[in-house]
Amino acid sequence: MSAVPPIVFGITGASGAPYAVRLLKALTAAHRPVSLIVSKYGMRLLATESGIESIDALRDAVGIDAWASYVEVFSNDDRGAPPASGSARTAGMVVCPCSMGTLSAIAVGASRSLIERAADVTLKERRKLILVPRETPLSAIHLGNMLRLARAGAVVMPASPGFYHQPKQIADLVDFVVARVLDQFGVEQNFVARWKGQ
Ligand SMILES: Cc1cc2nc3c(=O)[nH]c(=O)nc-3n(C[C@H](O)[C@H](O)[C@H](O)COP(=O)(O)O)c2cc1C
Repeated sequence: MSAVPPIVFGITGASGAPYAVRLLKALTAAHRPVSLIVSKYGMRLLATESGIESIDALRDAVGIDAWASYVEVFSNDDRGAPPASGSARTAGMVVCPCSMGTLSAIAVGASRSLIERAADVTLKERRKLILVPRETPLSAIHLGNMLRLARAGAVVMPASPGFYHQPKQIADLVDFVVARVLDQFGVEQNFVARWKGQ
């Protein structure tokens, strides 16, 4: 494992599993250690949307060598794991995709799972918390929770790809969102060109 502190990465049960897989690949390719936590519904959506039925299958999708070097998995039930404590050094946290259920729990500091607790810790330690929600339409409750989180310091970046780079395939749309998340952590990527004007 690297001496660089890990990015805590929560995968929850919003639609958008391909974003999670691509982001995990990109972070490990950039040699960034990851503390990975997958909720029960995060795993279900990985199966439904990406055909990934287990953590072992996720490891195979990311690549066994990259996984062994950079990924540590924690149970979402284990609120005694390192990401649950502010004393454990991290480089921040991303929840991608982020369900409205998890988003609301983070907004009120519920901390009923490791993902929720780690997000709570990330906010209280004033570290970077990136939330990538996917829902439409958004109710006043959803919007209120997002506003509360933005005011508390979280970066709320909906999985909402742009089209100005003229995507040709679904992977281009996924890459667009993932590239913006990587920007938040200062991780360089070479799969989406930066806009330089027309
Ligand atoms: C196929 C499927 C798609 C779903 N899509 C979304 C979604 O896009 N956004 C969302 O907030 N919840 C979605 N849900 C509901 C969440 O998975 C559900 O609220 C779950 O309890 C979230 O738990 P978690 O945040 O612990 O993963 C979906 C559920 C299923 C089964």
